[in-house]
Amino acid sequence: MKKTFLFLCLATLLLSACTKEQLPVANYDIIPRPKEVRLNEEKPFELGPKTIVYYESGLQREAQFLVEYVNDIMGYVLQMQEYQSQPDGIVLKLVPEVFDQTEAYEINITPKQVEIRGADAAGVFYGIQTLRKSLPVSPIDSRHPTSPRGNDMGEPNSQFSIVNCQFPCVTIKDYPTFNYRGMHLDPCRHFIPLDSVKVYIDMLAMHNMNQFHFHLSDDQGWRIEIKKYPELTEMGAYRNGTVIGHNGNLYDTICHGGFYTQDELRDFIEYAAERHINIIPEIDLPGHMQAALACYPQLGCTGGPYEVWKRWGVSEEVLCAGNEETMQFVEDVLNEVMDVFPSPYIHIGGDECPKVRWEKCPKCQAKIKELGIKKDDKFSAEDYLQSYVMNRMAKVVEARGRRVIGWDEILEGNVSESAIIMSWRGTEGGIEAARKGHDVIMAPSSHLYFDYYQSEDIASEPMCIGGYLPVERVYEFQPLPEELTPEQQKHIIGLQANIWTEYIAHFWHVQYMALPRMEALTEIQWNNPQERDFEAFVERCRHMAQLYDLYHYTYADHIFNPQVWADTVEANLATRKPITLRQQPAEQYTYEGAVVLNDGNLGRGAYNSGRWLGFCGYPMDAVIDLEQPAEMQHVRFHALTNKGAWINPSQVKVLVSDDGENFREVAQKDIPISTWADSDGIFAYELDFEPVKAKYVEVIITGYDLPEDHSGFGYPAWIFVDEIEVW
Ligand code: ACM
Ligand code: ZN
Repeated sequence: MKKTFLFLCLATLLLSACTKEQLPVANYDIIPRPKEVRLNEEKPFELGPKTIVYYESGLQREAQFLVEYVNDIMGYVLQMQEYQSQPDGIVLKLVPEVFDQTEAYEINITPKQVEIRGADAAGVFYGIQTLRKSLPVSPIDSRHPTSPRGNDMGEPNSQFSIVNCQFPCVTIKDYPTFNYRGMHLDPCRHFIPLDSVKVYIDMLAMHNMNQFHFHLSDDQGWRIEIKKYPELTEMGAYRNGTVIGHNGNLYDTICHGGFYTQDELRDFIEYAAERHINIIPEIDLPGHMQAALACYPQLGCTGGPYEVWKRWGVSEEVLCAGNEETMQFVEDVLNEVMDVFPSPYIHIGGDECPKVRWEKCPKCQAKIKELGIKKDDKFSAEDYLQSYVMNRMAKVVEARGRRVIGWDEILEGNVSESAIIMSWRGTEGGIEAARKGHDVIMAPSSHLYFDYYQSEDIASEPMCIGGYLPVERVYEFQPLPEELTPEQQKHIIGLQANIWTEYIAHFWHVQYMALPRMEALTEIQWNNPQERDFEAFVERCRHMAQLYDLYHYTYADHIFNPQVWADTVEANLATRKPITLRQQPAEQYTYEGAVVLNDGNLGRGAYNSGRWLGFCGYPMDAVIDLEQPAEMQHVRFHALTNKGAWINPSQVKVLVSDDGENFREVAQKDIPISTWADSDGIFAYELDFEPVKAKYVEVIITGYDLPEDHSGFGYPAWIFVDEIEVW
């Protein structure tokens, strides 16, 4: 017994001696990387439970955040008090006069002091974020899983292995490159409770973002209380079932929905404002309005009846643009939204508004006549009618001193120059808008749609809408198009990523889609570095992953476990032989061209992984020159089936030729049309035929027109093919 006690004492002594010598050290190589970090050789500042946080008047909330963050990470509560002259400890100060832009900050660390000086409270807040992200994080298993905090007496929580920590002396100067640094979230397709959205706000704050785009209305659910139109939330916030899988014809019968009261939203706005985040509400109009029409059918062109939509996609049921009652409704809604949200920006949507109802609606057609609208060679009369609606609502917003944001479709017509354009269908809309003098927010689906898959191995991922958008691709994004002059580039006020939730029913999944792609996004928003070094970036992500663990954020870890597709096919007669396509693939799915089809690498991942060539409306028709006559009796290829994404082959033919001009058919196979009960995936198709000797092989794969039970009924299906093998 005694022996054990002595041994324990000795061990404790030894351990504390060790920890003294090896105090963990803060690391300023964080995300986003500060613009300037100058280390110096003085003795480091030591942070410990007795360190005091001093703050200048007006920075009390910032000081509280710092205390909270240190407690989260280190497990002790620092004391805080208003600023006195030259105290030792951490000092928060406002010095707007030394900065030439808002949100800027400096950190000066000397042996006795950590001084954070901001151009404004937001600048101080970002300095605090930098300090927070520099702190070493205790390994997760040394911490109690449910109670990681210290007590208010400044006593550390014994579950934390790190107590004191050294801050190397340094001067950090930092400021954001873009003023608008945002993320979007869609709580309409799947309702997300505000407690979860608050965690999303915390995530934005950790990544130095200052705009949260909150998409509050859509076909599948209305989410904001509007007192003048109570049915919007009594009825429009709920749908009586949801399509199963990728928009097939099977539905569940579960009532899904929820909404936010104006009081709840005011509290939420305050929560975000404390974290220097502005909330931009979006009321999407005149399309994406079916939930509102379900409540007030007289606002549509046909008068309904309508239901809160149970499927995904673009509904043809839109607001009637020729009905004054409808215009009054929208005005009233926008006014109540502006009563609740103080945001300088109000998003009024404008995307994906089919015009089929307007073309047939007497009221809409009468409005076109009344306004003297004429179609021209660029746009239809109905396109100009949409511009009329958008411009009219922009005036309602501007009358209250706010600015409108709209999706890039609002350029189709004659939208007023004051509207800010959110470029989502690529960067082209943003380029056109900047040339026309609009301010622009870049949010292209090609790089910033975080509802897309982030791994090619989709079988191992939670199901999502499709696509392929790994962190690398986000990290490569160049928000300032070279096509623009420096003067026009000034119109790009910033960028944001979007998370649509058709296939995201839980908040953990939102986090998984956001993280770590948000890290690449903030790096561009805050810095837009000219030189990009992805490997170094991944190293910095490792520390962020520790913070995500600490806060129990769900995140994807593919960047730490890069996948190597070892999927090469066995060399065969076709491998790397000259190959030509009689018709080129769709431009966006061409990649390296025909050689993708016989480069020896098997198609993997999603349709846009770069490993498939895509064709639509005409066959994939490839001719392979075997370079010398060879005997063959077997052809195999792989193709994707993804009914929700309109992808399905229907027939394949194999032809051979001796001279490359006269071909004869040697095999043909019909591919059964996949039904909603069949699974999607990558399928191999094989054709055997009588042995034949020839120098050229031609493979023709056809698609079909989508069947009646498909939302794309009548349109041609896509064909995505890879790796044609011949033996
Ligand atoms: C959008 O993704 N429909 C803006
Ligand atoms: Zn109408």
